[in-house]
Formats: sequence, C-alpha cells, structure tokens
Amino acid sequence: MRLEVEITGKSFRSAAGETHEVLAPVRFALQSGEVGVLIGPSGCGKSTMLRIILGLDHDFAGRVARPPEARIGMVFQEPRLLPWRSVEQNVRLAAPEVSDAKLSELFRILELEAHRSHFPGELSLGLARRVALARAFAVEPDLLVLDEPLASLDDALAGRLRDEIATLVASRPMMTLLVTHSLDDAIRLGDRLFFLSPRPARIVQELPIAIPRAARSEAEIAAIRTELARRIQAEQGDVHAGRDVS
Ligand SMILES: Nc1ncnc2c1ncn2[C@@H]1O[C@H](COP(=O)(O)OP(=O)(O)OP(=O)(O)O)[C@@H](O)[C@H]1O
Ligand SMILES: [Mg+2]
Repeated sequence: MRLEVEITGKSFRSAAGETHEVLAPVRFALQSGEVGVLIGPSGCGKSTMLRIILGLDHDFAGRVARPPEARIGMVFQEPRLLPWRSVEQNVRLAAPEVSDAKLSELFRILELEAHRSHFPGELSLGLARRVALARAFAVEPDLLVLDEPLASLDDALAGRLRDEIATLVASRPMMTLLVTHSLDDAIRLGDRLFFLSPRPARIVQELPIAIPRAARSEAEIAAIRTELARRIQAEQGDVHAGRDVS
C-alpha cells in the first residue's frame, strides 16, 4: 500500500476576496509501515495538507493517490467527539466492528477505563484527545493521520502515549502521517521527517531515519537530535546568506 502526495498549490479566498496561498508545491510518498512526520511553524498549512490528503478538501491543485480500499484513522487537532454520545459510543460509532476485547485493550492502554460512560463535556482536553486516539486505532486503519495528538498532555503521559503509538503502529502494516511541534516525538516515532517552510508550506528538508524505531537507543536518539540541530542551523545560515535551501 502506498500514499502519493503531489500537491501543486492550495489557496484560500478571504471574505474580503483576497487570495491567500497556503501550500506551495509539496510532493512525497509513504509506504506501508512508514511513519512520516510533518514539522513546521504554526499556520504554515499542515492541517490544511492533512485535510487534502484525507480527501476532505478537494479544492486544491495537484493529486493525492490513496489506496481506494484503505481504512482511515484520523485524530484531528481538536478531538471532535460527538457531545451527546458517551466515550464508548463515540469509539463504537467510528468502528462498529471493533471487538469488546480490542476496545478494552485500547481503553486500558490509553488509561480511559474509568471514563467509558462519560460524555465529552465531562472530559478534560487531554482525556478527549485520548478518546480521539482510541477511536482512530479502533478502526484498525491502513492510513493513520495524527494532527498533534499529544498536545496538551503532561510530559509523562505524552511519553507513555508516544510509546503506545509506536507499539500500535508496529502491530499493523499501516501508513502513518504525524504532525507535531515536538522534535523528540518526531525522532522517536518517525521514519522520515519533513520540515516545512512558513506559509505557503513547502518541504525544506527531508530527513530519513535509517535505524528502525524499535532499535533506536537513547544515544542514537541524541545523535539524531544533534544532527537535526546542525542541519537546521545550516539551513538558517543559508537563508541568511540568501541561498535557496530547497
Ligand atoms: N477554511 C479556511 N479558510 C480560510 N483560511 C484558512 C482556512 N483554513 C485554514 N486557513 C488558513 O490557512 C493557513 C494554514 O492553516 P492550517 O490550519 O493548515 O495551519 P497549521 O500549519 O495546521 O497551523 P497550526 O500548527 O497552528 O495548527 C492559516 O493562515 C489559516 O488561517
Ligand atoms: Mg494545524
């Protein structure tokens, strides 16, 4: 299975009729089993790109090839739960075929057992995000798209959930696309990191991480972080010197 993204441009028209270019040409592909990470400044167009990739926004130039039969799991930037349905109902509605055992396992992993019958209005943002993660994983997706799924969680919980995401991603041959502002999450979860420019977003750097996720030691993670910092600094040097870094 393979996801091919060849966006040549995307713009929004404001209420005043002005055109705002949001995406410059962006081109990449993801294979089954790969985690691609999008990292870029706030407002550069990441969520817009995800909506296009998911087929929720057709008003763009270019093409996106998703396997037509791919099951999609999505965690939006805001949890987007149905307010009049319980936590459990929210997950079951998205994944009607999920078994009781699978659901219990997901609730255990995401520490949601005590909240099964709660309604979204009774949840903190962090809890609601975990429900959104449970819903995405319950689908057993072929394409998993995560828009800042660990934002607003404390460091300890974010770390545990990041490990669980890694375990779940390894449990099935899916394609995963993650948006994050955390270099640490990117290095620990990603196979290929795409660094985006400010709006209109384009890929300024692509960094493949050759070491398999499960085999990355703390020392290797630190080495990748140093290499990244070096590249980012070099790129800033290039920008200051007026050179194109694409
Ligand atoms: N429906 C819309 N109509 C008009 N402009 C929009 C719309 N959606 C997004 N934009 C604009 O497009 C740009 C990119 O927005 P987007 O939400 O994709 O950014 P982002 O990279 O996800 O940012 P963040 O990291 O803050 O989530 C912003 O300038 C935003 O104001
Ligand atoms: Mg966003």
